[in-house]
Amino acid sequence: MTLLELTDVTASYGPVRVLEGVSLTVPDGGAVGILGANGAGKTTTLRAISGTVRTAGRITFDGRDIRGLRPDRVAALGIAHVPEGRGTLAQLTVLDNLRVGAYLRKDRKAVAADLDYCLTLFPQLKKRLTSNGAALSGGEQQMLAVARAFMARPRLLLLDEASLGLAPSTAKTVYDAIGRLRRESGIAMVVVEQNANLAFTLVDTATVLETGRNVLTGPASELKGLDEIRRAYLGG
Ligand SMILES: Nc1ncnc2c1ncn2[C@@H]1O[C@H](COP(=O)(O)OP(=O)(O)OP(=O)(O)O)[C@@H](O)[C@H]1O
Ligand SMILES: [Mg+2]
Repeated sequence: MTLLELTDVTASYGPVRVLEGVSLTVPDGGAVGILGANGAGKTTTLRAISGTVRTAGRITFDGRDIRGLRPDRVAALGIAHVPEGRGTLAQLTVLDNLRVGAYLRKDRKAVAADLDYCLTLFPQLKKRLTSNGAALSGGEQQMLAVARAFMARPRLLLLDEASLGLAPSTAKTVYDAIGRLRRESGIAMVVVEQNANLAFTLVDTATVLETGRNVLTGPASELKGLDEIRRAYLGG
């Protein structure tokens, strides 16, 4: 079943149109990558989904038209956005950041169980529960951002450059945990990455954006082998 579908979506900042017609299909439980150079429109595509940029075209989630909905309504439907730059709350402790993630939920027992689960997924956070977000390393902040999004128990997670600024070994740790989360929770994902090697460890299919348009879409296994992908995104 298709969970999220974008059909010919355009998006603008003021008078400037930066998405010229993006399409994307995410099956329930599936993971789709968005690759592309700086400025291609990857972040804007995630903003189009989460309702934080002006859009036209068609965006459906679970069969329902969500284009133009306010961001809080989109979140309440089960879409959690981990933005570029992480967006953890610097003045709150790790524990409070995780609680904020779950603020719409009433099922206290399940929230407590999910909190435990986050700490098995990211054991590094366990030692930092009472530290402020601002005191965390870049890798720990990224882990917290993912864990906080999970605490909302979304059906779809939007991940924007989860590897940005991290040492390769830390980026791998973060992606391994996200992969485990995917396998164990079945949460669907849209994964924006400049590091295609990492993205391909996680996604089933991917699309390449260039100046706000899809230029190539297909199974990760096929894209990985293409010369143009290797040259542009896989370091040769
Ligand atoms: N808030 C904004 N106001 C005006 N223009 C913006 C804004 N945010 C992004 N843009 C422009 O929109 C285009 C697409 O930007 P976007 O951030 O979606 O690209 P990206 O693929 O995520 O790039 P990067 O890899 O650098 O994060 C760029 O030309 C960018 O300059
Ligand atoms: Mg971006």
